[in-house]
Amino acid sequence: MNNKRYTVTAALPYANGPLHLGHIAGCYLPSDIYVRYLKAKGADVAFVCGSDEHGAAITLRAKKENTTPQHIVDTNHRIIQKAFEDFGIDFDIYHRTSSPLHHETAAQFFKDLNEQGSFIQETSEQFFDEEHQQFLADRYVTGTCPKCSYDNAYGDQCEKCGSSLSPTDLINPKSTLSGKTPVLRETSHWYLPMNQHEGWLKTWIETGKLDNKQQHDPNDWRKQVIGQCKSWIDNGLQPRSITRDLNWGVKVPVDGADGKVLYVWFDAPIGYISATKQWAADNGKNWEDYWKDENTELIHFIGKDNIVFHCIIFPIILKEHGDYILPTNVPANEFLNLEGDKISTSRNWAVWLHEYLEDFPGKQDELRYVLTSIAPETKDSEFTWKDYQARINNELVAILGNFVNRSIVLTHKYFDGKIPENNNQEINISHRITYNQILVIKKKLEELLEEFKFKDALIEAMSLARLGNKFLADAEPWKLIKDDSKRDEVKTILNFSLQICANLAIAIQPFLPHTSRKLIDLLNLPDITWNDLGNVNLLQPGHQINPAELLFPKIEDEAIDAQIAKLEATKVKQSNPKAKPMKDEITFDDFTKMDIRVATITAAEKHPNADKLLKLTLDTGIDVRTVVSGIAEHYSPEEVIGKQVSVLVNLAPRKIRGIESQGMILMAENNEGNLAFVSPEKATDNGGEVR
Ligand code: MF3
Ligand code: ZN
Repeated sequence: MNNKRYTVTAALPYANGPLHLGHIAGCYLPSDIYVRYLKAKGADVAFVCGSDEHGAAITLRAKKENTTPQHIVDTNHRIIQKAFEDFGIDFDIYHRTSSPLHHETAAQFFKDLNEQGSFIQETSEQFFDEEHQQFLADRYVTGTCPKCSYDNAYGDQCEKCGSSLSPTDLINPKSTLSGKTPVLRETSHWYLPMNQHEGWLKTWIETGKLDNKQQHDPNDWRKQVIGQCKSWIDNGLQPRSITRDLNWGVKVPVDGADGKVLYVWFDAPIGYISATKQWAADNGKNWEDYWKDENTELIHFIGKDNIVFHCIIFPIILKEHGDYILPTNVPANEFLNLEGDKISTSRNWAVWLHEYLEDFPGKQDELRYVLTSIAPETKDSEFTWKDYQARINNELVAILGNFVNRSIVLTHKYFDGKIPENNNQEINISHRITYNQILVIKKKLEELLEEFKFKDALIEAMSLARLGNKFLADAEPWKLIKDDSKRDEVKTILNFSLQICANLAIAIQPFLPHTSRKLIDLLNLPDITWNDLGNVNLLQPGHQINPAELLFPKIEDEAIDAQIAKLEATKVKQSNPKAKPMKDEITFDDFTKMDIRVATITAAEKHPNADKLLKLTLDTGIDVRTVVSGIAEHYSPEEVIGKQVSVLVNLAPRKIRGIESQGMILMAENNEGNLAFVSPEKATDNGGEVR
């Protein structure tokens, strides 16, 4: 029995896109396995997660797709939640950070810390986009990484070398909104003085001691996790700004902080707490038991890019607040690659979970099996479709499925599907050995699960099926049955095989819950718990079992080839990795609403009040009109006169810096933000429709 209380969290996925296999292998599958194990042992667990719905990644995506952040997060929250459910990641609650309860919880957290003087407030110069009249937080700036020279690094992080950055660190910074070089402007923000926390953090990370108490054993933590933390601390922690000039997020709950929100990495981890609050309220529990009781174990499952936030920043916030417990372990995984390349959302080099579930209905456990077998626990690992097929066919089908199937088929064939008696198990030496091996497997399996070594734990669980296969193959009941005097021996053998099947249902349950359920149904087993593992009298003689059914069908080449072709297709298509993703589909009617015509520029002059604008006179064939266009940095007035261009003529007129613009000239933009006219390929009549 395990009466302990656990709060298990899995990193809140950003609601700016669907989940791919890298996310699943990174933290959702391992946390789900761990929690299923804990619950099977009878532990009191809150398994919480939810959508991370704030941050610049989401507002930028909304802008790109010409919609609102709320629309983006609503859509993705739904897709993500459904994929988790369909796949069988069994959270106790899947919450969201846009919920009022979360806004309230995060705002209160900030207030408490602010009032007790845990922050410093400072004015600094930050990038500002003059065209969009907006400060450029985090991903709103891109440029060259100062550490590795990668030229598409974000203002908060370089995805190439993993360095965490400030926008002003970037070489040759550009605004993501306008493509222009931003200017510096003063703005005031709240900072978490992380430098003041170096002392206790270093002790805690290196020795596991917190306030002079042994909170955890540092040897239980993964080397890479401790390594990353140490290198952060050794490089000296800096004050970190925890607010942003953005209009999407949790509003800074202080007078005079209009237009400022909490930094997404401040509010998101607090999302674990709000999720627990909601779950507790819905289930008659006390949330504080799960966050404020020193006997509760807090375990954060994350990917390696989240280590600093969960091992340094969030612990500082929790400890500084007081009363809260700190994590006793943060089992962070490395990355999963795909078919020889890094998974990339922007290049669509990914296997999306919701698409997998559509393409392989009912094959949740197959994927769980493969992703656990290749879990990137100590180093990056790789998913390939061929390997997926091989592992299923050679292991799940050939070992686990085969053993269970043979045991059940033979029981039906010889004994009408009734569990035969176990006559001389006590004296049979091969049973004895096998029985002892089951106990050894149980012990190792538990140790590995408790050490977060799920990949090895799965091998251990599978060794029970291997053991069963070997036992059957050595005993050869199909030969003995031909000799009437050996009938009792056959009964004993099959009884024992079926007891191993019942034990398998327990051992595989954390990893393959759907298969475990099927097996329990096949054997007609009553409810069993983890503590029944190692009991070889789970099925009583005379008990009727159900007809055999294949646990796993073989994966055919066609299915695998189709998946490989699907991935290859994305490779061919995107010849320009910097090209923006396609916008949402529109109807033909939407398109025909736009009236685009060929027109000739007959006059041009600089806009009197704006350097970047030209005032153009156009002959559109249907009239002569004025259009203001932001092309002065790309064309001089002299060079545009006489050019034939494409103009959206039925765009509602609007005043641009004092001059009414009656339409919009279509421009093509290259990767560097340079503009070119979209002109007819040969001279044509003004007023000709562009369709
Ligand atoms: N959304 C983040 C990511 O995908 C993870 C947030 S974890 C939390 O990298 F702790 F902040 F919630
Ligand atoms: Zn870099």
